[in-house]
Amino acid sequence: MSAPNPLLSDNVPSNILSLLDRLHEESLNQESIITRADYAAPVIHSNMKDKFIALEQDKCHFMYQIIKSIGGKNIVEAGTSYGVSTIYLALAVAANIKATGGAGIVIGTEHEVEKAAKAKEYWAECGDVVSGVIDLRVGDLRETLKEALPDTIDLLLLDIWTPMALPTLKLVQPNFRAGSVVIADNTIASAAEYKELLDYIRAPGSGFTSLTLPYNKGLEMCVYSPQ
Ligand SMILES: C[S@@+](CC[C@H](N)C(=O)[O-])C[C@H]1O[C@@H](n2cnc3c(N)ncnc32)[C@H](O)[C@@H]1O
Repeated sequence: MSAPNPLLSDNVPSNILSLLDRLHEESLNQESIITRADYAAPVIHSNMKDKFIALEQDKCHFMYQIIKSIGGKNIVEAGTSYGVSTIYLALAVAANIKATGGAGIVIGTEHEVEKAAKAKEYWAECGDVVSGVIDLRVGDLRETLKEALPDTIDLLLLDIWTPMALPTLKLVQPNFRAGSVVIADNTIASAAEYKELLDYIRAPGSGFTSLTLPYNKGLEMCVYSPQ
């Protein structure tokens, strides 16, 4: 029996499900020829300029479930690329708005102008349910996230080059509430590169509890629970 897909149970339209399947497949095809050396500091931007490197589908499903369980309506995504994970974030926010009313927004961030433009095309293809709840900030997120954020951020996805992870968390953390969630990708495979972030989160008194989930290459789930 195939693994359950929460989007299917939530009656997400079939054109969106097909688009997601196609984009994940394209991303995996690209990744099959990417090596660790491609992620090295001096070349990473040019090597990844036209690569999806989308969050794997099972992790996206997990994130969708978490956002629904915490009733998340305001999300920040660090690293949007072609906007695949953003579609899941938007669908979860839209589901929460539909369930309990109010407003919500997914703040995406992408450095590459061409990627940002293509992401917007994919979101338009999904329709207003997705495109209508995304605010994409194009440029270096260390600047764009200094612009106004919602008072409360329910979830931060860190799917970004590792040196950006801690600076991003520090920009967004003032807007966390008790129970806000931080998800960081690849925290087992890139534990050394994430050292600063993981030391910060796991330090006694940090206000975070943290768990490494056994997804491919690891997925960190942190809950903000200040004493
Ligand atoms: C792993 S990809 C994101 C994948 C995306 N979350 C998905 O699942 O489809 C990381 C992205 O972060 C972008 N990026 C890297 N440094 C950045 C920065 N300083 N500001 C904004 N975006 C940045 C890269 O261009 C790249 O597209």
